[in-house]
Amino acid sequence: MHPLLSTLPKAELHIHIEGSLEPEMMVAMAQRNGIKLPYDSVEAVRAAYQFEHLQSFLDLYYAGAQVLQTEQDFYDLTWAYLQKCAAQQVRHTEIFFDPQTHTDRGIPFAVVHDGITQALREARSQLGISSGLILCFLRHLSAEAAMATLEEALPYQDSIIAVGLDSSELGHPPAKFQAVFNRARAEGFLTVAHAGEEGPPEYIWEAIRLLKVSRIDHGVRCVEDPALVEYLAEHQIPLTVCPLSNVKLCVFESMAQHNLKQLMDLGLCVTVNSDDPAYFGGYLGENFEAIAAALPLTPQHLVQLAQNSFKASFLSSAEQEAYLKEF
Ligand code: ADE
Ligand code: ZN
Repeated sequence: MHPLLSTLPKAELHIHIEGSLEPEMMVAMAQRNGIKLPYDSVEAVRAAYQFEHLQSFLDLYYAGAQVLQTEQDFYDLTWAYLQKCAAQQVRHTEIFFDPQTHTDRGIPFAVVHDGITQALREARSQLGISSGLILCFLRHLSAEAAMATLEEALPYQDSIIAVGLDSSELGHPPAKFQAVFNRARAEGFLTVAHAGEEGPPEYIWEAIRLLKVSRIDHGVRCVEDPALVEYLAEHQIPLTVCPLSNVKLCVFESMAQHNLKQLMDLGLCVTVNSDDPAYFGGYLGENFEAIAAALPLTPQHLVQLAQNSFKASFLSSAEQEAYLKEF
């Protein structure tokens, strides 16, 4: 391992908790909940993880999430991820969850929320890891369904810092969710959105102008529009980049071709994240190792990425400062 990486404190800002469901846990939960999976072994689950694009991943990701049934399941899922954080010097994490993936199959919102937040509370007291929770709307579903989900979340507002937008990007531009995001902001939520992963730079502009996001999730296609790059640099709008995800989903052919260093050298606020670690071959530590091995990054680049992760977080300035003092 790169010597710097074993000690660097980090925050993670782009992790779908359902994407941390490891095959071992998927098979164990299927057994305990009496659910039939289309695989006969953990190895068969792993072998299926060969993706051509975002949609081919999402199909398996939503199928895998069906094993999550009880509050205990959501707790176990989240706790396992937080233990990984503790082992990899991840001091703060802002976690996405997709309530519609669960409520649409009859699992109550409270079951999902309570399991996740119980693990987050314990991580704070037992592991010293701070956290935030971000509710993502599934963009392949309707704007009306997103609005209904937002209304369902209002009683839980104390534990949800922001709303986001994920799932199939192409054909579902941010503009589709303008009214929902207006309402979310009026209710006091911060906003983020996946944009420019597979979708064009125009979707990044829409996320900024129409959804008024604080961060762009992915955003790597911004380089196709110089005016957009200039805007992102001037306003230091963070990009939560996910290197292993981008290679697994064929956004880049190889890690050596990833544009993360180019984005940093253009003056953008880039952070490194794992996206769906159980599906893409690694958690935050493995993402840092992969970029350090494949790209001509200096130690200063690596330190900058880790510092950016705190600066781009939804922590208060005082909390950010406390973490930044550790560098
Ligand atoms: N849901 C989980 N991972 C995602 C990704 N990388 N892009 C869009 N939606 C997602
Ligand atoms: Zn994502």
